[in-house]
Amino acid sequence: MTDFPAFSTRLTAWQKTAGRHDLPWQNSRDPYRIWLSEIMLQQTQVATVIPYYRRFLVRFPDVRALAAAAVDEVMAHWAGLGYYARARNLHRCAQAVVACHAGRFPDQAAALAALPGIGPSTAAAIAVFAFGQRAAILDGNVKRVLCRHFAIDGFPGAAAVHRQLWRLADSLLPEADIEAYTQGLMDLGSGLCTRRRPACQDCPLTADCRARQQGRQAALPTARSRSALPERSATFVLLCADGRILLERRPPSGLWGGLLTPPEGPVALVLARLGLKARHCQPLPPLRHSFTHFRLTLEPVLCEVDAPPRLAADGYEWLALAQAATAGVPTPVGKLLRALAGAAALRGQMTEDG
Ligand code: ADE
Repeated sequence: MTDFPAFSTRLTAWQKTAGRHDLPWQNSRDPYRIWLSEIMLQQTQVATVIPYYRRFLVRFPDVRALAAAAVDEVMAHWAGLGYYARARNLHRCAQAVVACHAGRFPDQAAALAALPGIGPSTAAAIAVFAFGQRAAILDGNVKRVLCRHFAIDGFPGAAAVHRQLWRLADSLLPEADIEAYTQGLMDLGSGLCTRRRPACQDCPLTADCRARQQGRQAALPTARSRSALPERSATFVLLCADGRILLERRPPSGLWGGLLTPPEGPVALVLARLGLKARHCQPLPPLRHSFTHFRLTLEPVLCEVDAPPRLAADGYEWLALAQAATAGVPTPVGKLLRALAGAAALRGQMTEDG
């Protein structure tokens, strides 16, 4: 006896009555809008995505508008959402849809997954929501739901566990109501079966959830061992002159590609590279930032320089401290710059107060 049919039936019924139905990308079959939402939602929560999604659609209302835009403008509309490879791939994907598919997204998950930035789970979500195709999703939230419900041990990122989860996700697909079922998995994973403190009392699948039966909700899914996540560090030189800070446009590929950050590297090398002399340098407290594949420690060094706020070299900008944090910088750099601007404002006020 298997409870598989009951899983999809209960989940679908629950989604229809208790799930989300009014998100900005729902109630549409437009593959462009659905694709955009799925890419934005890959590593970012719904509440964060919504304002970006709306602004993005105002500027880039369809796939042709996006394909024709300059990549810098796409990056500027993405700044703050993080995981910037998504934005570069988004632009490439739009260009591929225009160049190779006459501006129309393909309707099969396999063809969608051949496009830049669209992995198998995202391809399935687009195929389901835009075209009603029967395809299985398996993002991080769904992995957590399945690992718990079926008490699957082992880190879900490990190849064998990953394969097992895909087989399971495929085997659970219902014959009908694929949209409500898929949305139900997403709604359950983000709303009830959360990483910390799952709301088992409200879950439509609680009766036969093995993790709940075994009291192992907190232990599943099995965590990756902490030591497996590599640590990196980077020195950022905050060159300040007359209330302005020097930012550098990063190369288009690599970490934070295309965004502005303070120049990176050992202080002496950065100063030499820019032909600047520092009056005073002072290390600031380090800032930690986690990516999916590594952890980064930002080591800021504040350097006051005499240079006038202009620099001939291309790709550098002197920006007023108060504006720099909102100028298309990565999230942790924004945090750093806001703290710096706050401290500078406080110093200014203290000076005024005498
Ligand atoms: N997460 C990923 N895709 C989603 C969607 N379509 N709706 C809500 N959350 C999601």
